Amino acid sequence: KGDVFTYDPGFVSTASSKSAITFIDGDQGVLLYRGYPIEQLATRCDFMEVCHLLLNGELPTPDQKQQFVQTIKNHTMLHEQLVKFFSGFRRDAHPMAVMVGVVGALSAFYHEAMDISDALHREQSAFRLIAKLPTITAMAYKYNIGQPFIYPRNDLDYTENFLHMMFATPAEKYEPNAVIARAMDRILILHADHEQNASTSTVRLAGSSGANPFACISAGIACLWGPAHGGANEACLNMLEEIGDISRINEYIKRAKDKNDPFRLMGFGHRVYKNFDPRANLMRETCHEVLNELGLHNDRLFKLALELERIALEDDYFISKKLYPNVDFYSGIVQRALGIPTSMFTSIFAMARTVGWVAQWNEMISDPEQKIGRPRQLYVGTPRRDVP
Ligand code: SDX
Repeated sequence: KGDVFTYDPGFVSTASSKSAITFIDGDQGVLLYRGYPIEQLATRCDFMEVCHLLLNGELPTPDQKQQFVQTIKNHTMLHEQLVKFFSGFRRDAHPMAVMVGVVGALSAFYHEAMDISDALHREQSAFRLIAKLPTITAMAYKYNIGQPFIYPRNDLDYTENFLHMMFATPAEKYEPNAVIARAMDRILILHADHEQNASTSTVRLAGSSGANPFACISAGIACLWGPAHGGANEACLNMLEEIGDISRINEYIKRAKDKNDPFRLMGFGHRVYKNFDPRANLMRETCHEVLNELGLHNDRLFKLALELERIALEDDYFISKKLYPNVDFYSGIVQRALGIPTSMFTSIFAMARTVGWVAQWNEMISDPEQKIGRPRQLYVGTPRRDVP
């Protein structure tokens, strides 16, 4: 607690034993990025300022922000050979499959990134990843729907540029409205980092072997894809669509409590939070704001989600197991209201989390005491024996 972070070095691999980036108190529902509460960052800052904070430890001065934003803009385009990679995928490939492949393939284009001992090379790889993930994410969507790629526009800010690449076409201009852009920016902030979650630990473990940052981030994307992790937002919206009506909520609550039924309430529960995930509260607020602004305040799925949350939070099983809504419970409803297709929710999670993965990777690689991670096991197999 406070400034003394306790950890059991005997338990965790050396790749993720201590960090100064993000602090979570699961019992109190506290989330801090470099000491700042997520509630303040999500309402007083933009995503570029939060990226600077996570990478450098401090919020930027106006001059530092201007320089940081321009540096990111210098890297928004993909090498044209890399653009050709997309044509090798089936059109109906899940966007996360495309992102794993294309992000990993960045390793084939920036050979200096292999030398991770050089701080400048590490910094450049960080900028390239943060800058190119929106371009790759939007291209994965355009490829999936058979529309031409829309190239980055550096006259737009980070989030507006992403929305433009997602929704503009050569035939139709797209000017993101302020509500949608602000809501998307907040979604990116809420997903930016989260301590040693499964995908961040994957990035750290891969990075501890000295693998290049593009390969490590590709490994993180692969891990995030799972429905128990980043895939939960897509699974949660599909679950709400399947429940369909408030009258069917109790049927699904009953299934979620049935140990013989593999069904889990998507967007509920967490490995660390045994209280409210503060991001879930902020995502619910964003839902209210966006749906009201867009005249969708009677959105049926949002009303269904609110009632499902109310019933679950009054249920003895969920209370006894300390199961609360997590970041994924409302994020799908907000993104759906912004016009984001369900298939893109996890890809946008990966795009947002890239800054956290990169900050955590760089923190580990910069630690002179860092060694390769090597988790141990409890052997429960056959004792030693001789071949007859
Ligand atoms: C993310 O780690 C991170 O920080 C991740 C993340 C990030 O920002 O990186 O926060 C993002 O991944 C959030 C989680 C998204 N996943 C989901 O919403 C999927 C649904 N949630 C469950 O699959 C589950 O809650 C997990 C996987 C998130 C956690 O599972 P655990 O470790 O089993 O949780 P637990 O130990 O607190 O569970 C206690 C009990 C268990 O039952 P018993 O073994 O005690 O009988 O509650 C049960 C669990 O089976 N349980 C659920 C449940 N979640 C846990 N029962 C029904 N529905 C659920 N959602």
